[in-house]
Amino acid sequence: TIYFIDGQFTSKDSLNISIDDRGYYFGDGVYEVVKVYDGELYTAEEHFERLFQSASKIKMSIPYSEQQLIDIAKELVKTNDIKTGHIYIQVTRGVSPRVHQFPEMEVPPVVTGYAIPNPRPYKNLEDGVSAKTVDDVRWLRCDIKSLNLLANVLAKQEAYEDGCAEAIMVRDGVVMEGSSSNMFGIKNGVVYTHPATNLILNGITRRVVLKLCKEMSIPVEEKTFTSEEAMKMDEFFMTSTTAEVTPVVKIDGKAIGSGSPGPITKKLQEAFTRQIP
Ligand code: PDD
Repeated sequence: TIYFIDGQFTSKDSLNISIDDRGYYFGDGVYEVVKVYDGELYTAEEHFERLFQSASKIKMSIPYSEQQLIDIAKELVKTNDIKTGHIYIQVTRGVSPRVHQFPEMEVPPVVTGYAIPNPRPYKNLEDGVSAKTVDDVRWLRCDIKSLNLLANVLAKQEAYEDGCAEAIMVRDGVVMEGSSSNMFGIKNGVVYTHPATNLILNGITRRVVLKLCKEMSIPVEEKTFTSEEAMKMDEFFMTSTTAEVTPVVKIDGKAIGSGSPGPITKKLQEAFTRQIP
C-alpha cells in the first residue's frame, strides 16, 4: 500500500508520524472518507469542499487547493489499483510541543491519506441492520467532521455489544443521526430526517438521497422526530459513504414497520445504485 504524507507518496515502513502531532494529542484535525467505485472517486468535490469547510470552522488552513487534494486522492486510487474501496484523508494542525492553544509559531498542517479496497455492503443492503439508541453526549459542533470521535466510538461500541450495526444518537429525546451515518424515517410516504444544523454532520450521501427523493417526487421533510416516533415509522434507513442506503429494520430489538427493508427504501437504493459509476 502506498500512503500520502506531507507531499509525498510512500510505503508504510517509511511513514513518519510525530508523537507531537496535534491530531494524536487532541484529535485536533479534520478528515474525509470518499468512496471509490470502478476506480473512480464518487462525489469527490462535495467531500473536499466539506473538508475545507471543516478546516475553516476549526480555524485551520490546508496547504493545498481542493483540486490538488483531488489529484492526490486520484493518485492514491491509481497507484494502489483500487476498484471498489475508499480513500481516507486527514489534516491535523501539525507538529508542536503539547499545549492546548494553537502553536505560537505557525507550523504546517499534516496531511495524510491512503486508499483501500472495500466492497459495497451487499448483505446489509439486502437484509437491513439493527440499530440501538444511545444518548448523544457529543459537543454542539457535530457539523464539523473532526477527528474527535470519542463519543461516536463509545456509542458504536455500545451498539455492537448489543449485536447492532449502528448507534442512533438521541439528544433530548430527538433522533440526531447515527454514530457514523445519517438517519431517515418514512411515515405515510413522507421521508423525515434531521435538518442540517450544528447538531449533525450534513452527510454527502444524505444530500444525494434528498436529491434522489426530489427527482422521484418522494416528499421529504427535514424535520426532527423523536426516538418514540422513530419506533412507529413505516420504514427506516441510514446513509453514509460506506453504508450507502442501508435499511434499519430493528431499533432497540423492536421491528420497524414490517421488519424488513421497505418499498421506498428499496426504491432509493435502486436509484442510488443507478447513479454511481
Ligand atoms: N462517517 N454522520 C457522522 C457522524 C459521520 O461520521 C458520517 C460519515 C456521516 C455520513 O456522512 P457521509 O454521507 O458524507 O459519509 C454522518 C464516515 C463514513 C466515517 O467516519 O467513516
